[in-house]
Amino acid sequence: MPLEPYQYLSDVWKDGIFDNKVVFCTGGAGSICSAQVRALVHLGANACIIGRNVEKTENMAKDIATARKGAKVIGIGAVDVRNPEALAAAADRCAKELGAIDFVIAGAAGNFLAPMDQISPNALKSVIDIDVLGSYNTVKATLPYLEKSAAKHRTDGKTKPAKGTGGRIIFVSATLHYSGTPLQSHVSIAKAGVDAMANAVAIEQGPKGITSNIIAPGPIADTEGVARLSREDGREQNARSIPSGRYGTVKEISDATIYLFSDTGNYVNGETLVVDGGQWRTSGVQ
Ligand code: HXC
Repeated sequence: MPLEPYQYLSDVWKDGIFDNKVVFCTGGAGSICSAQVRALVHLGANACIIGRNVEKTENMAKDIATARKGAKVIGIGAVDVRNPEALAAAADRCAKELGAIDFVIAGAAGNFLAPMDQISPNALKSVIDIDVLGSYNTVKATLPYLEKSAAKHRTDGKTKPAKGTGGRIIFVSATLHYSGTPLQSHVSIAKAGVDAMANAVAIEQGPKGITSNIIAPGPIADTEGVARLSREDGREQNARSIPSGRYGTVKEISDATIYLFSDTGNYVNGETLVVDGGQWRTSGVQ
């Protein structure tokens, strides 16, 4: 069942703000990233979503395309973010078929619950490779296109910028590594690397007009992350321990994305937007 608009974006945003923009998203068939892309498509963008599973990725692309009449959404499956050549080919295809890459969401992630003493070196490496190397490959593959987009949209006071915004990256991270999180050492290590990379990209690429920010979601209802990482019978109690008293929604991650990618986020660079109902501030205090 395709999502209704109220499920994936707030009604405060203006239709058409992302007209003629193109978003490239890894992990785009997942529950959080697909909602982010769906919201951008609803507001005018076209998109390429990248995934490992061909059928899941292509079906999700078709589903997202229903968010707006005339939307072009390409699902590029069989792409492992650990493979730089495959990602570069996907980025080139996206730019060729849709004309540009204005926005990048580095969302592909690997995760499971396991205590550190049961994680093999290869298991740790797999998660680091998907999260850190995968995000790195994503930035490298799309940077030439982001540079072009940023140059078109920059507001230097000398040339009239193109309408709208471009040259923006969001890394989807987590809050697990802000304190210690049991059974999540591998992901905490990986996400700390992702955060460091996002900061480095902000500093290095900022002068070109590119922005690089992080969205760190807390527990978001009805997502693969929550399904994988928490027991169903513990979720109600867990929700009560969050200052906002509930799990988040994918819509709340989409809204943060629109904020960072639209005119509202023009001067935000190298920042982390935590969307977790205040959960990490409690550092496990119930
Ligand atoms: C211990 C495990 C394990 C587990 C796999 N491994 N699952 N070790 N406990 N539950 C080990 C394997 O034994 C192997 O080590 C190594 O990990 C690699 O496993 P493969 O299956 O060969 O790797 P691969 O196919 O690349 O899979 C990567 C993966 C997998 C990360 C292990 O879970 C995956 O593909 N996940 C992608 C989807 C996903 O996780 N999405 C979650 C998004 S949610 P050995 O030593 O045996 O070779 C999310 C939320 C973040 O990210 C935070 C929210 C708050």
